[in-house]
Amino acid sequence: MAVLSFLTCIALFASFRASHVAASRQLKSANGYYFVDPLIGTRNGGHVFAGATLPFGMAKAVADATSDNQGGYASNGSPVSGFSHMHDSGTGGASSLGNFPLFVYPGCNNDDINGCIFPKTERFVQVVEGSVSARPGYFSIGLQNGVKAEITTSNHTALYKFTFFGNATGNATVDGSLSPLIIVDLTDLPDTRSNGTASVDPDSGRMTGTGTFQPSFGIGTYTLHFCADVQGTGPIRDTGVFINNRGGSEPKNITVQQDNNSPPVPAGTYAWFDQVESGSEVMARVGLSFISSEKACQNGEAEIPNFSFEDTLVTAEEAWKNKLEVISIDATISNDTAGAINDATTMNDLQTIFWSGVYRAMISPQDYTGENPLWESDEPYYDSYYCIWDSFRSIHPFITLVDPYSQTLMIRSLIDIYRHEGWLPDCRMSLCKGFTQGGSNADVVLVDAYLKNITQDVDWVTGYEALIKDAEVEPQVWDLEGRGGLYSWKTLGYIPADDFDPYGNGVMTRSISRTVEYAYNDFCIAEMAEALGKQDDYEKYVERSGNWLNLYEEGQASDINGTDTGFTGFAQPKYLNGTFGLQDPIFCSPLLNFDSCYLNTNGHETYEGSSWLYTFFAPHDMAALITTLGGPDTFVSRLDYLHESGLLYIGDEQAFLTVYQYHYAGRPAKSAERIHSYIPSQFNTTTAGIPGNDDSGAMGSFVALSMLGIFPNPGQDVYFITPPFFRSVSLTNGMTGKMATIRSVGFDAAYTNIYIQSAKLNGEVYTKNYLTHSFFLEGGTLELVLGPVESSWGTRGEDVPPSVSMR
Ligand SMILES: *[C@@H]1O[C@H](CO)[C@@H](O)[C@H](O)[C@H]1NC(C)=O
Ligand SMILES: *[C@@H]1O[C@H](CO)[C@@H](O)[C@H](O)[C@H]1NC(C)=O
Ligand SMILES: *[C@@H]1O[C@H](CO)[C@@H](O)[C@H](O)[C@H]1NC(C)=O
Ligand SMILES: *[C@@H]1O[C@H](CO)[C@@H](O)[C@H](O)[C@H]1NC(C)=O
Ligand SMILES: *[C@@H]1O[C@H](CO)[C@@H](O)[C@H](O)[C@H]1NC(C)=O
Ligand SMILES: *[C@@H]1O[C@H](CO)[C@@H](O)[C@H](O)[C@H]1NC(C)=O
Ligand SMILES: *[C@@H]1O[C@H](CO)[C@@H](O)[C@H](O)[C@H]1NC(C)=O
Ligand SMILES: *[C@@H]1O[C@H](CO)[C@@H](O)[C@H](O)[C@H]1NC(C)=O
Ligand SMILES: *[C@@H]1O[C@H](CO)[C@@H](O)[C@H](O)[C@H]1NC(C)=O
Ligand SMILES: *[C@@H]1O[C@H](CO)[C@@H](O)[C@H](O)[C@H]1NC(C)=O
Ligand SMILES: *[C@@H]1O[C@H](CO)[C@@H](O)[C@H](O)[C@H]1NC(C)=O
Repeated sequence: MAVLSFLTCIALFASFRASHVAASRQLKSANGYYFVDPLIGTRNGGHVFAGATLPFGMAKAVADATSDNQGGYASNGSPVSGFSHMHDSGTGGASSLGNFPLFVYPGCNNDDINGCIFPKTERFVQVVEGSVSARPGYFSIGLQNGVKAEITTSNHTALYKFTFFGNATGNATVDGSLSPLIIVDLTDLPDTRSNGTASVDPDSGRMTGTGTFQPSFGIGTYTLHFCADVQGTGPIRDTGVFINNRGGSEPKNITVQQDNNSPPVPAGTYAWFDQVESGSEVMARVGLSFISSEKACQNGEAEIPNFSFEDTLVTAEEAWKNKLEVISIDATISNDTAGAINDATTMNDLQTIFWSGVYRAMISPQDYTGENPLWESDEPYYDSYYCIWDSFRSIHPFITLVDPYSQTLMIRSLIDIYRHEGWLPDCRMSLCKGFTQGGSNADVVLVDAYLKNITQDVDWVTGYEALIKDAEVEPQVWDLEGRGGLYSWKTLGYIPADDFDPYGNGVMTRSISRTVEYAYNDFCIAEMAEALGKQDDYEKYVERSGNWLNLYEEGQASDINGTDTGFTGFAQPKYLNGTFGLQDPIFCSPLLNFDSCYLNTNGHETYEGSSWLYTFFAPHDMAALITTLGGPDTFVSRLDYLHESGLLYIGDEQAFLTVYQYHYAGRPAKSAERIHSYIPSQFNTTTAGIPGNDDSGAMGSFVALSMLGIFPNPGQDVYFITPPFFRSVSLTNGMTGKMATIRSVGFDAAYTNIYIQSAKLNGEVYTKNYLTHSFFLEGGTLELVLGPVESSWGTRGEDVPPSVSMR
């Protein structure tokens, strides 16, 4: 992407005279948008959705690649089999959504409808190298059959502009002209359709239909509807339906029910255009709805009344610019601009990494308000909480910071899901319940928001009720919601590896990771109980929050291939009878059986990580953890070992907090060093530039918060201070309108000066190594003086963030 060089050297933080404010705001809003590269993370399993969407929009349209296509398009050279209108972003497991893809032919062989290929498995076309371009709200791609697609969206409608070039050949009656065919296929990316129906209007070419599909990481089915209107420069020549590999102009509708075909039998409708010249456009507008195909048509008509690609795109661009402009950064390299070409290149890349991360954190959850067929409600409805196990750590805290209004709507929707489904979700997609991975981490999301003044119109009475239910009531099937093993949790204070649990059923693994997560969930509930003045609840849940320690086996050693790591004391499985079992502390780290701790029935006692990793998980009582592990020095060297030995994979979300846990040992300088070791080495501007799945923007929000220098301890009112990656960063709060600025004195773009020497908050000396959310609500300036060596700033006991046992 071309980046305008003047944008890199605008100093945005001088106090402008009134007449300059408008101009500066304009530059500022342009600033972030033009740095976003939606293609980052579209290769090597990043699974990022690279197509067109509005912030949190329901319509997410892109070309679908044939492999590694969880997010639709993948930058892996695989061909394209269609253009579909809804996706999830960054998810692992099966592909999501991708329903009702369009496919476009410039013409059919022998000018015969059956000269075009209908089945998805046969009709794919290679991508023209270098033809893909993406920016927020826009995606375009060239295919080797001479079809160029440009894509933009409104909230529930995808708009496609197809033009023909190069290899495009038709075989219409007039030589050299084309006869484009558009088909709509009743399928989805993971091939889960059970039944479907579609019809085409022979006069207008309007194609409408419905299909029933399965969610990609959950149970049940969902039904989605579409309404595709086509507009070409030529008149419609023919319409019809296809099934399997044959098409025909009668009948004008088709219904398919589940049969023994795998994948489900290809079926759908088509509209065939008379001659158009090469270079002509054919437009397709696809309205979507979970309510009905009539509603899908209404959505399309209301949102994109006249097929104007330009208007729709400008609206999408504006929506993104508005979201991004609450953040401004001063990416000036130095006040002596001589030389520094290499630094400038690096700084451009860093801005791309940053703004692309910000962008990816605002793709999901998806706003399906008004589109929820499951219950009647005036509350907002968001979907694709995919999954909260990933998103509680950085996505929701980030949205709270940059878009508290959207976060408020999400919290209300979570509480409304509780109201109607009986439980807060741990994972949810496509109107279905997804699978739980550890604790009931929506508890953390709710409490984090509550502590950060997400209160407007939120029914916190019901919200608190939902938290207590997670903590007290075991669901029959705790793979889908809530927590399993609650009887043991309450009586023994841990989840036994051989739990006797006649009160519900679920996959009986992950006893260690569930124990440490339940403890933290209970702590978050305690925080809210305290804020609500519920002293009994507070004491009860604080007590339970200490349960993480019950699985600490102090004699447990750890070696790597027979060489002692030198550290003892790890979280270990414990039986009902109180004796410890053994899971090698490095098991399920990248060094040993990394892939052995998933949600399968033999998934062992830690989830997607090792005991080494989960031993560090006591986010609310780091003081006790540090003491338990042998004091600050041992703790710091153990944390160093975790990061430097190959035991940690930064591409799994549990790793995030470990980057910053040095703060609790009074070593904020080490957290700063650590984050610079990961950015940009593991987070860069390439299409493979994120480690592992983005998980709905988890990696994106991790880089964004880290580069702002304010990574949160999610579920607590704590932001760890590290020097921002830019000279100065500012956030304007969406609730109060106040601006908070963090400015570094002695900033150097080579990042030699990453050590805070001293700090001033609104002019007053500030020694705490963390901030609270009031800084962002009330605005102000945190000035950091940086230097090349670790200092005593933020190192004293009273400077570190709170721990529950120190109260
Ligand atoms: C065009 O149609 C004619 C007759 O229908 C056929 O002979 C010829 O092979 C076709 N060409 C292409 C490129 O399909
Ligand atoms: C045209 O088609 C040929 C053969 O399929 C392919 O090698 C070439 O790359 C295509 N050219 C373009 C511009 O798509
Ligand atoms: C999309 O929906 C959001 C939430 O309802 C709304 O604020 C926004 O204006 C809509 N955008 C467009 C372009 O209609
Ligand atoms: C399609 O399947 C779903 C789920 O089994 C069912 O509810 C719906 O009635 C079916 N629709 C048709 C048209 O058969
Ligand atoms: C086509 O539509 C007509 C009228 O709505 C209906 O009676 C018929 O069953 C439909 N046929 C198929 C194959 O869906
Ligand atoms: C298309 O519709 C939009 C929204 O109603 C309107 O603002 C715009 O002026 C229209 N554009 C054209 C070219 O008619
Ligand atoms: C420019 O940088 C130097 C050295 O870092 C510093 O002493 C000086 O205050 C800076 N000047 C301005 C105007 O920021
Ligand atoms: C945040 O919420 C707290 C508690 O409700 C309240 O005391 C405080 O005034 C709020 N702050 C702002 C800036 O809204
Ligand atoms: C452990 O030893 C095995 C066999 O020699 C080797 O393949 C593996 O890479 C070693 N692992 C580590 C972490 O050193
Ligand atoms: C406790 O239970 C475990 C698992 O059943 C068993 O292996 C162990 O021997 C028991 N220990 C004692 C002291 O009974
Ligand atoms: C970019 O990031 C990826 C994913 O973390 C990593 O594998 C790769 O080595 C990085 N590339 C560069 C050039 O740093």
